[in-house]
Amino acid sequence: MKKRFLWFVFVFFAIGVGLYPLLYFLNDEPQGVLSQKTPAILASAAWNTAFRLHIFLGGLSLLTGWSQFNGKLRRSRLSLHRTLGKIYVTSVLISGTSGLYLAFYITGGMVTQWGFGLLAVSWLFTTYMAFVKIRALEIQSHQNWMIRSYALAFAAVMLRIYIPIMLAGLGMEFIDVYRIVAWLCWVPNLLVAELIIRKQNKLITS
Ligand code: HEM
Repeated sequence: MKKRFLWFVFVFFAIGVGLYPLLYFLNDEPQGVLSQKTPAILASAAWNTAFRLHIFLGGLSLLTGWSQFNGKLRRSRLSLHRTLGKIYVTSVLISGTSGLYLAFYITGGMVTQWGFGLLAVSWLFTTYMAFVKIRALEIQSHQNWMIRSYALAFAAVMLRIYIPIMLAGLGMEFIDVYRIVAWLCWVPNLLVAELIIRKQNKLITS
């Protein structure tokens, strides 16, 4: 029962935040982070292209990733698992690289730049490792790296949970919140991923 509820919450947030970038495409008015950017950034074709690629493919990575962890689906529809996996890896490659570029222009200075920059590099690295491991047919290791990769993709979800709590609930200043969340949205996720991996590996060896 508890497992089912956690799975429901996991899927709910993956789909909800995965669809969220659509708001930027459906609305012509500057919104969200766009309303805080300088006219020079908003006029930059490079920044705008990176932003659009990042949010669209970041959303797609969340939408395709969650179902890959469903063992039943994986076993019964292996070709679907492979297709979704290819879409996920390609999305991360483009969204992660453009996310790294966007990190240079982010509000909040070095603390947010390093937070999001390292998140982007870690996302790209863990996904690359998952890809290398499946090419080498090392299934367990592939799964472990995918758990880490998706835990990092989930930074996008955690960020959107923490920010309103800190702003509205704790009454903090936006800039302080942004600096904290640049790290808080992904470092604990990696720790949770390691706990899940350890638990799974214990089950396999016992
Ligand atoms: C995990 C690695 C990721 C990194 C390093 C990253 C990095 C960034 C950066 C640097 C920005 C610009 C923020 C600013 O200039 O203030 C941004 C914005 C954004 N990102 Fe990501 N991101 C990641 C994952 C994702 C994912 C998986 C999604 C999927 C929904 C996503 C959706 C967005 C959206 C919608 C924005 C616009 C800001 C907002 O409305 O909150 N990102 N991201």
